[in-house]
Amino acid sequence: MVYLRWRRFIEMASLDRPWLGDLMEKRKGEAFRAAPVERWDQEYRDGVYDRLHRSDQRHHHRLLAAMIADRWPSPRVLEIGAGEGVFFEALRNHRPARYVGVDFSEPAVITGQKRLPAEIASGQVELLLGDGRAFRTDETFDVVVFSECIEHLGELEPLIEHYRPMLAPGGAVGLTMWLSLKPLRLWRRLKAMGEVHDEAVVNTPWGGGWLVATVGPR
Ligand SMILES: C[S@@+](CC[C@H](N)C(=O)[O-])C[C@H]1O[C@@H](n2cnc3c(N)ncnc32)[C@H](O)[C@@H]1O
Repeated sequence: MVYLRWRRFIEMASLDRPWLGDLMEKRKGEAFRAAPVERWDQEYRDGVYDRLHRSDQRHHHRLLAAMIADRWPSPRVLEIGAGEGVFFEALRNHRPARYVGVDFSEPAVITGQKRLPAEIASGQVELLLGDGRAFRTDETFDVVVFSECIEHLGELEPLIEHYRPMLAPGGAVGLTMWLSLKPLRLWRRLKAMGEVHDEAVVNTPWGGGWLVATVGPR
């Protein structure tokens, strides 16, 4: 517990002192390794991500949804790495005009589609099987969301460039990421690419912590 509190203190302090994060990170410079789709498939089949439906695991979703709705009423949202589309539950009360979720794990997408038949039938929601590193659509969105997945999608700058044409004018990237020194490196790189509209940290009594943000790429 003392160690976890110490870690959180360092993570929070490193938000505006990147040198501290660099100093304290254990495996400095280590690359992010994307897990293969088979591992995600198995974990979804085993129910590992059932916990993501629990209210105490979704504070970051609710905060990001509120940040989005505050700036874009009835937002159009594309979520990459959407899993079972749980983020839609946080958006729902903000009456999104459109939510498209893309994930490369078939069991996750199928479960999501089973969960939201009415929303899919009405055209409000679409859950698609696709690789988030290469997904394309002619549709445009107010926000492209990466929730707890950006570290699995390859180099950050080309990824954001890839999704730029899918952003409507004035659109933004929405981000949630587990609060930890290694992913925070990616946050600093994303920050450098645009204007930060909102940036906040959610801490939970059980020890969870997420960075939640929206950034308008330049
Ligand atoms: C930790 S889960 C987060 C799910 C959801 N975004 C949320 O916040 O509840 C990470 C998700 O990223 C997906 N993912 C990882 N690499 C991907 C890729 N290359 N293309 C699409 N989805 C990917 C996984 O299948 C998984 O559903």
